[in-house]
Amino acid sequence: MNRYYLTTPIYYVNARPHLGHAYTTIVGDAVARWHRLLGHDVHFLTGTDEHGLKIQQAADAAGVAPQKFADDIAPLFEQAWQRLNISYTDFIRTTEQRHRAGVSKLLQACFDAGDIELDSYSGLYCVACEAYYTEEEAQNNICPIHKKPVDRVEEENYFFRLSRFEDRLLQWYADHAGAVVPEHRVNEVIGFIKQGLNDFSVSRKTLKWGIPLPFDKTHVAYVWFDALANYITALGYGSDDESLFQKYWPVNHHLIGKDILRFHCIYWPAMLMSAGIEPPKGWAVGGWLLVGGEKMSKTSGNVVDPLDLVDDVGVDAFRYYVLANTNYGNDGDFTFEGLIARYNSDLANNLGNLTSRIATVVEKKCNGLGTAPQHDSALASIAQQAVVAAGDHWENMQPSKALDATWSLIRATNAHLENHEPWKAEPGQTVDAVMGDALEALRIIAILAYPAMPDTAQEIWRRIGLTGEILDQRISTSGQWGGYVAGNAVLKGESLFPRRKV
Ligand code: ME8
Ligand code: MG
Repeated sequence: MNRYYLTTPIYYVNARPHLGHAYTTIVGDAVARWHRLLGHDVHFLTGTDEHGLKIQQAADAAGVAPQKFADDIAPLFEQAWQRLNISYTDFIRTTEQRHRAGVSKLLQACFDAGDIELDSYSGLYCVACEAYYTEEEAQNNICPIHKKPVDRVEEENYFFRLSRFEDRLLQWYADHAGAVVPEHRVNEVIGFIKQGLNDFSVSRKTLKWGIPLPFDKTHVAYVWFDALANYITALGYGSDDESLFQKYWPVNHHLIGKDILRFHCIYWPAMLMSAGIEPPKGWAVGGWLLVGGEKMSKTSGNVVDPLDLVDDVGVDAFRYYVLANTNYGNDGDFTFEGLIARYNSDLANNLGNLTSRIATVVEKKCNGLGTAPQHDSALASIAQQAVVAAGDHWENMQPSKALDATWSLIRATNAHLENHEPWKAEPGQTVDAVMGDALEALRIIAILAYPAMPDTAQEIWRRIGLTGEILDQRISTSGQWGGYVAGNAVLKGESLFPRRKV
């Protein structure tokens, strides 16, 4: 079976999850679910990033020990993801023993390769990014991402000799076209490398909150070295059972925001090369969700709590909105009005209306029993096009386009009903045929909508009289026109998406 390994970033536990984290995690979940429909053996990892100065400072401000601080916040991420129906396979916390063991092994491997050495450094540091900036990048001592002052830091530390990897990285990207999507991001990566790479410090002597270096216990690992390693430590790298690591590494896609591109596409593959481990197969780089034109971030203080929105519109409407509203890779603007507008147009007027009018007509004109689809229905080819297009878009990490393709079938099916007006016709063969086609289209719509809206899709499945789980359907067979079997009881139910006042 094809295996598919997908990761989200591990989120800092300095504050509770916000909409930006939810966005990345929902994209991951939808993609993971799509791959399950393809029959792939999916491993989907998320988790929390708990070490480093940023967390230490947040804990200090709260007046608690960093471990206690992390123990309080990490469950908020797990709970939020459960509420959002995130089907992760594993949730890693970087304070877990399995992670510490793997980080030590990776550090030792890079040290043994001669790529980690003691040196001294002075530079500008942004704690919010946990990253150094050059004078040009941090104009007037201001962090380009957080727009806050950076600190001048001078330390004797262990350094990872990133400068030695320029040629190897350039060669690797030349040999692996398409590894980074959207494609324009790879130019950014190559541009960085060509500017010349600086060694980066992988340890901190002044900080206690971290994982000690195996070769010098007076230093703890730099939080980014520690954090990046989660993608392999969660698979058991460095434990006495590395079978998941053997099975799933290299990862198919790291989902990341554009703010952490450099760490993932430059530091990380170089660290892996140094340790003799294969680089990732792919990265999918998302843009930012903006509020009033600004990146939503804990540091800027303009956060929206995703769970408030879920309370308001329901989990699937929220998932649909974030997936459909932004082309993955670009920035998107979050507005509550936009959420409600899409809810009304795409969900209430299109998907919800289609589901309820099918059940109503089947009840009135077909004795409440589903009828058979026609092989040569005009909807058949539209459905097949939607299946192929949605598949291509999910494959290319474009949920908004996959949903566009899905909604084109929803609109076509509504149009099919409006053209034939079965509600005005006498019961009989013609109505049965029209409704059979509509039911079959809705069956396929439920499968295509499932990655974005798992509960709604399963409810539609049930209402059109089908048994079992959509999760167990396979696109290669269930995605073919003609699968709907006549004679099932079609159920009416409450409106899936009652219209909302703006
Ligand atoms: O950077 N819009 O954690 P983090 C869209 N711990 N996505 C957003 C977003 C926004 N406004 N804000 C955050 C870290 N994100 C590190 C990662 S990985 C080894 C370590 C998403 O809590 C986006 O995916 O700051 C971004 O990359 C991630 O959250 C960073 O979360
Ligand atoms: Mg951040």
